[in-house]
Amino acid sequence: MIDRPYVIINSAMTIDGKIATKIGDSKISSKDDLIRVHKIRASVDAIMIGINTVLIDDPSLKVKYCQGKNPIRIVVDSKAKTPIKSRIISDKDGPTIIAVTKKAPIDRINKLEEAGAKVIVCGEGEKVDLVTLFKSLKDRGIKRVLVEGGGNVNWSIISQGLFDELQVTIGPFIVGGKDAITLVEGNGVEKMEEGIKVKLHKVEQQGDEVVLIYKPLR
Ligand SMILES: NC(=O)c1ccc[n+]([C@@H]2O[C@H](COP(=O)([O-])OP(=O)(O)OC[C@H]3O[C@@H](n4cnc5c(N)ncnc54)[C@H](OP(=O)(O)O)[C@@H]3O)[C@@H](O)[C@H]2O)c1
Repeated sequence: MIDRPYVIINSAMTIDGKIATKIGDSKISSKDDLIRVHKIRASVDAIMIGINTVLIDDPSLKVKYCQGKNPIRIVVDSKAKTPIKSRIISDKDGPTIIAVTKKAPIDRINKLEEAGAKVIVCGEGEKVDLVTLFKSLKDRGIKRVLVEGGGNVNWSIISQGLFDELQVTIGPFIVGGKDAITLVEGNGVEKMEEGIKVKLHKVEQQGDEVVLIYKPLR
């Protein structure tokens, strides 16, 4: 196994497996679930999300529903598209790392650095090389990372076996929509036997929600 931080993926999904509606509304979690997630945020060194989640949700990724310090924020953003006006850059409440590839335009990298972000180059391909990123985070002293989606980032991490816990809240909604983002996107596998295997570690009921905690079967 590569030397990487402990990685927790957390996501809230509807009963039909969507993490947002077809227009990108992702407000699935109850107040109780937000408190649970923010306790995890307060316990990790860094939170990581994909660029689409920045562009659609513009989250601050701060600890708001409990006491605790704000973790480092990381965006997986091959072409350095993170807007300077996004809260992740403009809120100066903690460091922000933008993980890009060699394909990212240098002027965009300069703008993000001028705005206070740390840009790290991970790979030369179309997408950020997550193994390189995780090794680099470990070298920077980051021991625990919370991944908060979206579906494409979840797939990349899960399909490469780069996680230690998968925490999924199922909210009491059914929203449909073939284009609505699901818990994991990506190419998927063809046969069930090729699927990524996990074992159920814990189940919690929170009102009408269920929290499922899985660990990879290694
Ligand atoms: N319910 C929840 O818990 C929850 C949590 C988070 C997000 N969401 C929802 O999820 C939706 C966004 O999900 P999404 O799947 O479209 O996007 P995403 O996972 O947030 O971002 C995916 C993008 O990240 C970039 N990327 C760079 N390297 C990557 C790599 N190695 N693997 C995967 N992606 C990489 C790619 O864009 P580039 O090629 O441009 O770099 C890719 O298109 C939003 O609607 C948001 O509201 C829901």
